[in-house]
Amino acid sequence: MTVLVTGGAGYIGSHVVRELRDRSSIVVVDDLSTGRRDRVRPDELVVLDLADQTAPELLHEVMVERGVDAVIHLAARKQVAESVRRPAWYYTQNVGGLAHVLTAMELAGVGRLVFSSSAAVYGDVEGDRGPVREDDPCHPVSPYGQTKLVGEWLCRAAEDAWGLRWSALRYFNVAGAATSDLGDPGVTNLIPMVLDAVTSGRRPRIFGADYDTPDGTCVRDYVHVQDLARAHLAALDHLGSSAYDSSPHREFNVGTGRGSSVSEVVTEVARATSRKADPEVVARRPGDPAVVVADPTRIRADLGWAAERDLADMTGSAWRSWRSS
Ligand code: UFG
Repeated sequence: MTVLVTGGAGYIGSHVVRELRDRSSIVVVDDLSTGRRDRVRPDELVVLDLADQTAPELLHEVMVERGVDAVIHLAARKQVAESVRRPAWYYTQNVGGLAHVLTAMELAGVGRLVFSSSAAVYGDVEGDRGPVREDDPCHPVSPYGQTKLVGEWLCRAAEDAWGLRWSALRYFNVAGAATSDLGDPGVTNLIPMVLDAVTSGRRPRIFGADYDTPDGTCVRDYVHVQDLARAHLAALDHLGSSAYDSSPHREFNVGTGRGSSVSEVVTEVARATSRKADPEVVARRPGDPAVVVADPTRIRADLGWAAERDLADMTGSAWRSWRSS
């Protein structure tokens, strides 16, 4: 089986490629805007900007030449704040990029797609704030979250139009690294921010401690990137199985079902680094919901996937890979 992985030179994509190598031939398509060439084998890499007008034709060629059987589409822009400043660009990149991938797939007769979606599709989770389920209402608050929800709609429309087999994985808060060279270079996510602070002698900042949560800080569902990578393989297997045909489910939460507060994460990072973290509470960051935790029942039942690693595994591996990435 040959799998085309878009965004395969990125932080998450390179973990997916690493998990896939044992069982599939791989083609990576990446524009290297945030991905890194050294994360991918030279013979696997095709450098290509998916949002460019020429992308459908070039992708079609690659799919036919390499005999691609399935696509894992991760390539996208993912900075929430940037998406608020540049909405049209986010739609062009994320929705336009997916449209080009689907155009090429239909032309080349490639019928299976695993699409990277996000917990950002849910938006503010009001009300009882229990773990969020796939059929809960989606009201994304950022253009980034909107592009992921529209992407899911586009996949469903392609299913209706020409029989695409697809799954959307709604990632929660991804962290950690499989090896010391595959770390998260993320500049705004909590764990890299805390690592950056403690290694440069600054105090980590907590964006608000007056939320309606047990310790007043925001609660998120952190999932290890290696567990997340395995979820893509489970989704691919599902697309090839008869269980897919009898199931109405296409969207899957990828989370642990356990929430950790910002304070708890800071404490765990301090433990992992054996450094003192004396956090400073600053103003809330606009747009942050108090609690975002997955209900992972569906992915466990349908794909047989469950997270195996915990927060300590994430902070420990993030620390071992810090600045080598
Ligand atoms: N935070 C701090 N201090 C920091 C950085 C973050 O207190 O220095 C807090 C944030 O306010 C938030 C929590 O840590 O409460 C997690 O923040 P992240 O930026 O790591 O992650 P988010 O939950 O904001 O966003 C993540 C992904 C997005 C995705 C979103 C969907 O990074 O891509 O989940 O829910 F859209």
